[in-house]
Amino acid sequence: MADDLKKSSAATVQRNLLTIPRLADGSPRYARGWHMVGWSDEFEVAKPVARDYFGQRLAIYRGEDGKVRCMDAFCPHLGADLSAGTVKGNLLQCAFHNWTYDGSGQCVKIPYCDKIPPRAKTRAYPVMEINDTVLVWHDHEQGAPEMDIAPLQEYKGAGWTKGWQRFKITIKTHPREVMENTVDKGHLLPIHGFDVDTWLPVWNGNMCGELMWGKHTRLAADVKDDKLYVRSISHGPAYQYTWQIQDSGQFDSLILTAWCPVDENTLDYWFGVICKADPAQFTPEMLEAAAVGYCKASFDAFMEDVYIWERKLYRPEPVLCAGDGPIAKLRRWYTQFYTDRAQVDNAQFHNNNHNWTIQDLRDRMPQVMATQQIPGAATVAA
Ligand code: FES
Ligand SMILES: [Fe+2]
Repeated sequence: MADDLKKSSAATVQRNLLTIPRLADGSPRYARGWHMVGWSDEFEVAKPVARDYFGQRLAIYRGEDGKVRCMDAFCPHLGADLSAGTVKGNLLQCAFHNWTYDGSGQCVKIPYCDKIPPRAKTRAYPVMEINDTVLVWHDHEQGAPEMDIAPLQEYKGAGWTKGWQRFKITIKTHPREVMENTVDKGHLLPIHGFDVDTWLPVWNGNMCGELMWGKHTRLAADVKDDKLYVRSISHGPAYQYTWQIQDSGQFDSLILTAWCPVDENTLDYWFGVICKADPAQFTPEMLEAAAVGYCKASFDAFMEDVYIWERKLYRPEPVLCAGDGPIAKLRRWYTQFYTDRAQVDNAQFHNNNHNWTIQDLRDRMPQVMATQQIPGAATVAA
């Protein structure tokens, strides 16, 4: 693609910002759900880190018990950044006047005063650590997490490469573009070289997923008539697993993609991949090297998406045609994460395709590969 095409002008960014989800006071609304904030090894015991997400500064630290905690960083006292503080056991002590907070955000100690003021509390966020990633539960209404994410069984499992080959980048766009891209069928061939011939999207509450297969003109180009089967499952608005299986059985890969909004037009995006292959054809060293190459190729492919996103206009009412993929449906599903819980109409997000469930996407892949059919579906529609 042309290198010299400028990124969006300020005017285009302004136009995009007119259509993002907002709160009643006009400030940006960030999605409800689990959001990755970093790889586990970025959070060492007793070394607090500052992260800017959801339009705020967060102080994240791993206590001496090994648990990661996350809170709004600005001290309720006089506003120092708590991530510049010191971890004391499982508590976090502010550097400015040494007020000390527990993982719930409650001030539990003031060195020069016995009486803790009632408002000496900062907002804490639920934290979950799975697959060597740290996730924070963001909810504008500050409710408890309403979804769980099962860790990947394959991660660090037998036959798979040992840990993520990974990258992280910062992108100037809104998370809605990343989510929408996952069902944008029409871009798969021009951008990613994936010629999809069968496609089954499925929705279940706060999860969505899809099963598709076709000929990948880059990844499987060396094996004649080899097909690539892709199954992806999104857990809420920003954490997604994708399995890729080749017909030839030579090489499987499992990809984690996750993203978190920094501010209204910036997000961090993480990518990790593990691979598995026929041990008769790949030694463990060859497999690790293949995973490195795969990660690099994925980065290059992903940057082609990024190139588009950083220059595009969000069209609230796009002109769509048959073959585009279920973009309108995906947008409807995605609104739930920006809607107060009491107003979310769950029924409209349980529109399974051909009675397939998310669980079916996991369980029925071998059957699909064996028969080249989606059981129960005469034709597969978006
Ligand atoms: S600003 Fe944190 S203790 Fe005073
Ligand atoms: Fe894409």
